[in-house]
Amino acid sequence: MSTQTVSRARPLKGTASVPADKSVSHRAALLAALSDGRTTLHGFPRAADPQSTLSCLRQLGVSIDVEGDTVHIDGVGLHGLQAPSEPVDCGNSGTTMRLLAGILAGQPFDSTLTGDESLRARPMERIATPLRQMDAAIRLTNGTAPIHISGRAEPLHAITYRLPMASAQVKSCVLLAGLYAEGTTTVVEPVQCRDHTERMLDLPIEVDDSDVRHIHVTSEDGPVATTWAPLPGDFSSAAFLLVAATLVPESEVTIADVGLNPTRTGLLDVLQAMGADLTVTDRTETNGEPMGTITARYAALEGITVEGAAIPNLIDEIPVLSVAAACAEGTTVIRDAAELRVKETDRLEAIAEVLTRMGVSVSEQEDGLTIVGDANALAGATVRSFHDHRIAMAAGVAGCVAEGETTIQNAESARVSFPAFWDVLHRLQG
Ligand code: S3P
Repeated sequence: MSTQTVSRARPLKGTASVPADKSVSHRAALLAALSDGRTTLHGFPRAADPQSTLSCLRQLGVSIDVEGDTVHIDGVGLHGLQAPSEPVDCGNSGTTMRLLAGILAGQPFDSTLTGDESLRARPMERIATPLRQMDAAIRLTNGTAPIHISGRAEPLHAITYRLPMASAQVKSCVLLAGLYAEGTTTVVEPVQCRDHTERMLDLPIEVDDSDVRHIHVTSEDGPVATTWAPLPGDFSSAAFLLVAATLVPESEVTIADVGLNPTRTGLLDVLQAMGADLTVTDRTETNGEPMGTITARYAALEGITVEGAAIPNLIDEIPVLSVAAACAEGTTVIRDAAELRVKETDRLEAIAEVLTRMGVSVSEQEDGLTIVGDANALAGATVRSFHDHRIAMAAGVAGCVAEGETTIQNAESARVSFPAFWDVLHRLQG
């Protein structure tokens, strides 16, 4: 177990870079494997989660060459994966497990998906339900992983599936299974969540009169080998540094080449509405994903209410948004975020515990948090990370503002998405 100690920061100054986007990297690797030809991914993250996707693909017979941060994947086509000799280990990565389940449901061989203790506690009925409607034979273990999938010689059955929750993992699982179905599979998405899969597969989308998206996929939509030069930086990693710079007086931090897909950057809008000083420059695009440079300067924030359709676009940023709320003037209310209870840990409970220990007045509701802001109330403490990367990093940001020292237990959890986080934070502190 490793701890990190963070002291109230001197101003954070300078430039930083963040690892490539985790969601994009998982998908780029999975789709590369299913294409015909070689895909090259520049700047593939060393973070544990995307590496789990690579090791799962190797278990399925895909050949992957790594040269520094560049990964070459030799696609085997939609029907070229090999039966794994052992359970396929997804580590801590829910995206790896849920997306791979959609792919494996369409294979002629049996497979088992498993993962670490946290992943084996997360709900998997949400993918088993639509996959069973597609005729896949899937067996869970008390609603969770290990997931056993029986091979089938026949194509899957195409369905229309209305997402019961705003989950990009469930949406992507069904779309990937749709590549193995006879006919057109449609995912209906009442509340939009991250859209990397449909962008990468270039799928046709209809928006109905109620603004609901209908995404269509057939077996003709198989991925094409490509080069990502580079993969976009991870907005979800950048978020911790942007919030830290916003909260510590006299700070100014610039991060280049950050992914700016609007289904991911809800935090920018919310922070700006709270009074943050954020500027975006050098907008460009990489393989259909918007990207740019973000600069954050210190600003005084005011409390806000965040709810409804705004939530999926900042779901992973709610732990660090809660830290911003703790330092804002007035009360912040976060609602409609019950999905946070089934992430790597129950993130509503976890962030409430961290902030409470640091002296913040926070109350937990079934689907959210109410946080009474007061930057002067934050006091250093020893806090648990719950072995969750985003809780560990959010606690580190709180430590930059708190009086005295904050010690974060199991701080190494950051390696799941941002291995260099602690080094970068300490370096920006000068
Ligand atoms: C992800 C989707 C989200 C997000 C997770 C990554 C993805 O999960 O929280 O970090 O890459 O599809 P859900 O699909 O469970 O909302």
